[in-house]
Amino acid sequence: MQALVSRLTPSARITVLTGAGVSAASGVPTFRGAGGLWKNFRPETLATAEAFGRDPRLVWEWYAWRRSLIAACEPNEAHLVLAGWSRRFPHFTLITQNVDGLHESAFAKALSRPAGPTDVIRLHGSIWEVRCWQDCDASPKWWRDERATFPEMPPRCPHCGDLIRPGVVWFGESLDPDVVSQAAAATECDVFITVGTSAVVYPAAGFIEQARRNGAFTVEINPEATPATRSVDLALQGGAETILPQVDKLIMAV
Ligand code: APR
Repeated sequence: MQALVSRLTPSARITVLTGAGVSAASGVPTFRGAGGLWKNFRPETLATAEAFGRDPRLVWEWYAWRRSLIAACEPNEAHLVLAGWSRRFPHFTLITQNVDGLHESAFAKALSRPAGPTDVIRLHGSIWEVRCWQDCDASPKWWRDERATFPEMPPRCPHCGDLIRPGVVWFGESLDPDVVSQAAAATECDVFITVGTSAVVYPAAGFIEQARRNGAFTVEINPEATPATRSVDLALQGGAETILPQVDKLIMAV
């Protein structure tokens, strides 16, 4: 752990990539871990545009369930440490695959200010945003919608009356190219830490290797081994909510 702590200096360019594991201690199910969403649900029937076209009500019922579950969750120590690092380290970038919004909530909690547009690079969108299914001219690209329940299921676009869809990137869909290039630029760094991801979904998983090729000191924090474990410089086995506060404490002690 000291090999990491000694590199976390104010002049260092530090990039952190997170996945579902960082929210596990908050009570948000992961996708592929024990009790993970994809153990109980079939992604192809719930998280694709085809599935939504076939049965928008079924898909929305699933996302409404996930929203109600996440709404009851609080950011954990891991989220709070990372929010704190965005202030401590001038060259800090946080990239997440998570759509739960807990990183953003941690900014409000740890820094008493809302997360700004560049504080969290969201690769897969947000479960708290929606979009018109028809992309009608009157509607913005995405808009925030935090309603716990919708007056009607499936919910409708207030601009054109057609359906709205969840603001997440589904399987088979491309990520926003601007977001991808922001994340790719952040692999030009001194320290790259991957936290709580199974490192099997691309392009996110590819950033670890890209950072390694760019000469970064690469670190993985995960209780289990992943395809990235063998190639990182340092693998810290354990929960993010335990290891990140330990690292933070050691930084403070320096
Ligand atoms: N701390 C750190 N890591 C943890 C913890 C924890 N407390 N608990 C579990 N993990 C690890 C698991 O060992 C697993 O490797 O988190 C990882 C979660 O992996 P996935 O469930 O596959 O989630 P993720 O990698 O974020 O999935 C990537 O796939 O389903 C799509 O779009 C969805 O963004 C998601 C993407």
